[in-house]
This record gives sequence, structure tokens and C-alpha cells, in this order.
Amino acid sequence: MSSLQYYVSGVIFASTLLGVGAFNGYYEYYTATCHFNPNHLSDVEFIVTSWFNKDPYIRFNSTVGEFVGYTALGVKNAERFNKDPAVMAKWRGVKDRYCKINIPLEYNAILSKTVEPEVMLSMGRPPSGGHPAMLMCSAYNFYPKMIRVKWYRDDQEVTTGDVISTEELADGDWYYQMHSHLAFTPKAGEKISCSVEHASLKEPKELVWDSSMPEPERNKIAIGAAGLVLGLIVTAAGFIYYRTKARGRILVPSG
Ligand SMILES: *[C@@H]1O[C@H](CO)[C@@H](O)[C@H](O)[C@H]1NC(C)=O
Repeated sequence: MSSLQYYVSGVIFASTLLGVGAFNGYYEYYTATCHFNPNHLSDVEFIVTSWFNKDPYIRFNSTVGEFVGYTALGVKNAERFNKDPAVMAKWRGVKDRYCKINIPLEYNAILSKTVEPEVMLSMGRPPSGGHPAMLMCSAYNFYPKMIRVKWYRDDQEVTTGDVISTEELADGDWYYQMHSHLAFTPKAGEKISCSVEHASLKEPKELVWDSSMPEPERNKIAIGAAGLVLGLIVTAAGFIYYRTKARGRILVPSG
């Protein structure tokens, strides 16, 4: 089995070739990885590691140019491989044959691409016991993974623990999403905004919270007010009815 994967962390990219064998509950596999930085495409490091369950037992590192063993078996094989010119010629050539050919292809096809996040600002339910209000700033369908979400209250960045953000969550289709929460106590006339920085954007994307009430809230208040007025009318009518009735009852025996 072999598959190709890409890991993006900071500016170091790695593409991995994976081989797997599983027998009787044991799991043996190897990973072959090209580590590179897109700004220095000539600095490529090729690493191939053999694993048993979760432990590496032998590794070839192109920078070192030799195998290194981590278990008795690994050490024995490393000695054997390092002495064998045919094996060494094969592994020392992989960096040029595999990494140098694939990296520009992967880079141009995928890693150099960016997709702008769709950003949304919404009201959320705050955690109990803290601030009475919470805003959520969500970024959807962006690529690559690195993104930064900041909050501003009256143009002052919020750096306190009132901000809680998720990690960048992989959608499983190359795109990512991320959510950041700001718990706060509303102040009259205050401007709250969320700002998103991403490789796809020349300028940070800024969304300003409209503190005027959102539609559903307004409707709820209107329905509540109508109910209150109706309740007052019924109560008043009942009270007037009671008073007339009561007066009538008093009138009868005295009459
Ligand atoms: C490969 O070897 C170099 C030189 O010793 C080292 O700096 C690098 O971290 C090694 N890479 C891995 C993935 O072990």
C-alpha cells in the first residue's frame, strides 16, 4: 500500500510515502519523507524510517547519509546496510530521484495555492458563570491551514482569556475551519470586531458586530410585548367584570 500525504507546519512542508504491513496484531510500516522549505527548495532532506508498532527501529537520513538503528535488530541492519555499496547507492539517490522531482510538482499543484476563508460573525451562548454575552467568529473553507483570528473592542486588541479559539479543524477535503469565541459584557456604543489574517488575503478581513438587535431577538421582544398587552387587557377586563359583579351581589341583599 502506498499513499501520498502532505504535512504543513510553519513553512516546512513534507511529503510522505507510506508502506504498511500488519500481521497477527503487529503493525510494521515505513515512512519516507521529503522535508523542504518552499523558500529554499534546494535544501531537501529525505528521511526513511521503519517502524514496528509505534517505535522506529531504523532510519535513513539523507543529511547524515547513513542508516541509524534504534533497536538491536535496527542496529544490526544499519551496520549491514551501511557496508553494502549497492544499498547505499540506492538510498542516497532517492532524494534526487523522488524528492527533487516531486516537490516542484506538489508545490505548484497544491502548496502554492490559497483559498480565501468565508468569515461569519454570530452571537453564541456564553459559558455559565462568566460574561453574559458571547460572539463567535468563524472562518470556513480556507487553505492552507495557517490562520490568525483577532478580536478588537473599540480598536483595542483583546488579549485576555476572554478569547477562546479552536485549532484549525481539517474538513477532510483539504479545507479547514476555525472558530474563535469572545466572551464579553456589553457596553453601550462599543464597537466589537473580529479580524482574520490568512495567506490568501492582502489585508486582514474585518467583521464588525452590529450591536443593534438581530431580527429573531426583535421578534421575540415584539411577541412578548404583545402578550403582555393582551394579558393586561384580559386582567383589566376581568377586574372590571369582578367589580361590576361584586357591586351587583352587594346590591341584591341590600335591595
Ligand atoms: C537528519 O540529520 C540531521 C543532521 O544530524 C539533523 O539535523 C536532522 O534533524 C535529522 N532529521 C531527522 C528527521 O531526524
